Amino acid sequence: MHPLSRKQLVGAISTSLLALASANKSNNDFDVLDYVDPLIGTSNGGHVFPGATLPYGMAKAVADTKGENQAGFAYDTSVVTGFSHMHDDGTGGSPSMGNFPIFPQPSCPEDDINKCQWQQDDRETAWIPKSPKARPGFFSIDLANGVHAEMTTTNRSALYRFTFGDSDTALSPVVLVDIMDLPQLRSNGSAAVDPETGRLTGNGTFAPSFGQGTYDMHFCVDFKGARLRDTGVWSQNRAGFEPKSVKIEPSGTISASTNSAGSFARFYEPDDGKSIMARVGVSFIGVDQACANAEREQPDYDFEGTVETAEDAWREKLNVFSVDAEGVSKELQEVFWSGAYRTMISPQDYTGENPLWESDEPYYDSFYW
Ligand SMILES: *[C@@H]1O[C@H](CO)[C@@H](O)[C@H](O)[C@H]1NC(C)=O
Ligand SMILES: *[C@@H]1O[C@H](CO)[C@@H](O)[C@H](O)[C@H]1NC(C)=O
Ligand SMILES: *[C@@H]1O[C@H](CO)[C@@H](O)[C@H](O)[C@H]1NC(C)=O
Ligand SMILES: *[C@@H]1O[C@H](CO)[C@@H](O)[C@H](O)[C@H]1NC(C)=O
Repeated sequence: MHPLSRKQLVGAISTSLLALASANKSNNDFDVLDYVDPLIGTSNGGHVFPGATLPYGMAKAVADTKGENQAGFAYDTSVVTGFSHMHDDGTGGSPSMGNFPIFPQPSCPEDDINKCQWQQDDRETAWIPKSPKARPGFFSIDLANGVHAEMTTTNRSALYRFTFGDSDTALSPVVLVDIMDLPQLRSNGSAAVDPETGRLTGNGTFAPSFGQGTYDMHFCVDFKGARLRDTGVWSQNRAGFEPKSVKIEPSGTISASTNSAGSFARFYEPDDGKSIMARVGVSFIGVDQACANAEREQPDYDFEGTVETAEDAWREKLNVFSVDAEGVSKELQEVFWSGAYRTMISPQDYTGENPLWESDEPYYDSFYW
C-alpha cells in the first residue's frame, strides 16, 4: 500500500477514466470493493477520510491521529488520540469535527483509576506501523497499548469493537469520552454517566473548522460485552467515581487541548475474555435523539452484519459503473474505483438533524467541492 497525495490521485483518475472508458457488464467474480482502497490519499496532505462510513453517511468513524488529522486519520503520523464518530473528507485548513472521541485502556496501572491516562496529551498512544486496514464500511488499527480497534457505521451511529491483547495485569477495561473536537474549538460542554448502565452522554458547543458561528452536538455511548464495574467523570489528569457529571466552561487561560474532561465507564474482564463493544449515537438535535439514532439503527450490536450492510450499500452505488479493464494494471483499476468511491463520502445526509428547522425533506451538509 503506497498512499498517493491528492494531486497524484486526481491526475491518476483522469488518466484511468480515459483508459477505462468502455463498459463490461459480464464479469461475474468481480467484486468492486476489492478495488477500493480508502487509505489512498491519506498522506502528504491528502486530507481524505479513510474510515468507516455509508455512502453520504453522517456517522464516519476512524482513529484520530495527532499532527495531520484533517479527516481524523493520516498515514504519515505516529500516535492516536481517540476514536471519533463524525468527520469531513478532503478539507484544507484546520481539521474538521472529530467530536467526542472515545478511548479504551485495557486496565489502569495498579488498578488505580487515577493512574489511567485521561487528557489527550497523556493518553495518546503509538499506532503499529502497517496495521491500519480500511475497506468500505470498515476500519481497524492496532495500538501499542495492545488494543486492536475495529469500527463500522450505520447512518447515524458508530460501532467499535475493542479487543485487548495479553497483559500482565488482569483486564479491567476503561473507556473514556472526551468533550473535545479535532480543531479544538469547543467552548462549553458537559458529560455524564449513568451508574446503572454505564451509558455515557453529553453535549458540546463547537465552532466549525471554518465558517461562522457555533453548532451544538450531542452523543450517547452504550457498551456490550462486559459487566460494568464502576463509573465516574474526569477532568485534565484526574478522575473520580463521584460526581457522575462534569461541565466545562470556556477558559481564557487553558487551551482547549488541555482543558479536556468527560465521563468514563470501567468494566470487569470481558465476557469472552478479550473484547468489548461501544456503540455511539450522534445528533445535532439532542442527547435523546443521539441515543434514539443508535438504538434504532444498531439494536443488536451486530458488527459483522453492519459491515455487510455497508458493503452492499457501496456495491450498489459503485455498480452503476462498469469498465473494460483488459490490459489495465490492478493498481490503475484501484485508483479508478477508489476515486469513484471517494465521490460519495460527502456531502453528508443530515436529514432531520438540522436544529434550525423540523422537516423530513432531504438535507445534506458539508459540500466541499
Ligand atoms: C469483459 O471482460 C472479460 C473478462 O475480462 C473479457 O474476456 C471480455 O472480452 C470483456 N467483454 C467486453 C465486451 O469488453
Ligand atoms: C441510510 O440513509 C439513506 C438515506 O436516508 C437510506 O437510503 C439508506 O437506506 C440508509 N442506510 C441504511 C443502511 O440504513
Ligand atoms: C445536554 O443538554 C441537554 C439539553 O440542554 C440537557 O438536558 C442535558 O442534561 C445535557 N446532558 C448532559 C450530559 O450534560
Ligand atoms: C453553551 O452555552 C451557550 C451560551 O450560553 C448555550 O447557548 C449553549 O446551549 C450551551 N451549549 C451546551 C451544549 O450546553
